[in-house]
Amino acid sequence: MDKLLIRGGRSLQGEVLVSGAKNAALPELCAALLTAEPVTLLNVPQLQDVSTMLKLIRNMGVVAERADDGTVRIDASGLNTPEAPYELVKTMRASVLALGPLLARFGEATVSLPGGCAIGSRPVDQHIKGLAAMGAEIVVEHGYIIAKLPAGWKRLKGARITTDMVTVTGTENFLMAAALAEGETVLENAAQEPEISDLAEMLIAMGAKIEGHGTSRIRIQGVEKLHGCTHRVVADRIEAGTFLCAVAATGGDVVLRHGRADHLDAVIEKLREAGADVQAVEGGIRVKSPGGATLKAQGFRTTEYPGFPTDMQAQFMALNCIAQGTATVTETIFENRFMHVNELVRLGAKIQVDGKVAVIEGVPRLSGATVMATDLRASASLVIAGLVADGETVLDRIYHLDRGYDCMEAKLRGIGADIERVKA
Ligand code: UD1
Repeated sequence: MDKLLIRGGRSLQGEVLVSGAKNAALPELCAALLTAEPVTLLNVPQLQDVSTMLKLIRNMGVVAERADDGTVRIDASGLNTPEAPYELVKTMRASVLALGPLLARFGEATVSLPGGCAIGSRPVDQHIKGLAAMGAEIVVEHGYIIAKLPAGWKRLKGARITTDMVTVTGTENFLMAAALAEGETVLENAAQEPEISDLAEMLIAMGAKIEGHGTSRIRIQGVEKLHGCTHRVVADRIEAGTFLCAVAATGGDVVLRHGRADHLDAVIEKLREAGADVQAVEGGIRVKSPGGATLKAQGFRTTEYPGFPTDMQAQFMALNCIAQGTATVTETIFENRFMHVNELVRLGAKIQVDGKVAVIEGVPRLSGATVMATDLRASASLVIAGLVADGETVLDRIYHLDRGYDCMEAKLRGIGADIERVKA
């Protein structure tokens, strides 16, 4: 297994390019299943999760070609196997995003249950409930969600769907299914993440009729057919937020090309309160920071967009570890998302966890050690901690990082970090 070797203590300077968003690219690859015409996606990030999704759709009989410049061409005219097998789903929960499009276009779908994952149980009951409200007959057996249209039906039927909680991939599944359903679907309590809006824009470019995306009520008038399109994947706000935290913690002056400050309000506000100077600039975001102990620790609660993202909790915690004062961080979205804490403590951080609450008392310095990545964003948090720690940090199990960050170590090296990948 590859490792990262980080020698901490350098400030970061220069420019770094923000890639397309993982969490937009994954549903958008599935949206291409909704039409028999060719779809072109631009700015698709080079990630393990994208490779897994491509494998998943190719396995259905879809032709998908990926070029080095981030262009992916998908031709789903030959889709003949509306199935997502366990072997692929188990490595990537987002595979459940195939359910809505397959059901809408093919009238049936067999998708493995994603099962638990490191950060909590992550059920898909809401996805099932919403699609059932649109008329799908769904049974869960032998570890699979088996869904089909009732006998004699040609399309799903529009419905009013109110989920028990805000769910991002749930909202995406409903959007894609409703785009081809008969009549109107209204999604109440819809997720408002920028990736939802990006998916909605892509569907509109394919001929879908959608209003209200970016708010908690989305209306979709189903159409009979969708056509091909070319769509550019929105910039990854979590990758950008990760770089912002890295620069804020190490100190430095970096421009994040293509970064969208308007998608990171909650994180940027906290960084400013911590003492970093973060500004939207033409075509990106600029962050300047004195770094280290000049920063003030900041408490926050993770919530749905536009609140503080759970996907940024671990990275901001790394910054809090070396800031002045004490901060209380509350994780409200996932039940078990503090696995980075024990590893940060190995680097010298002072953190107490009680259920969903972590209290971080800033220390003057962290010291390099061997640590282990446990999930995607936890890995990013350990990279940030390694960049500020004295001496050498070795980060093991970085396949988690490769799932969701496009060339992270090369990008960090480009702005002056001393970081290298050690091949297994
Ligand atoms: C998406 C993101 C992930 C992010 C998360 C929250 C993708 C591919 N992944 O995950 O990076 O951390 O949003 O911002 O976009 N829930 C249920 N039943 C359901 C669905 C969800 O109980 O049917 C619960 C989940 O367990 C969780 C909460 O609802 O506690 C929110 O989850 P959800 O928004 O669905 O997360 P994902 O879409 O899986």
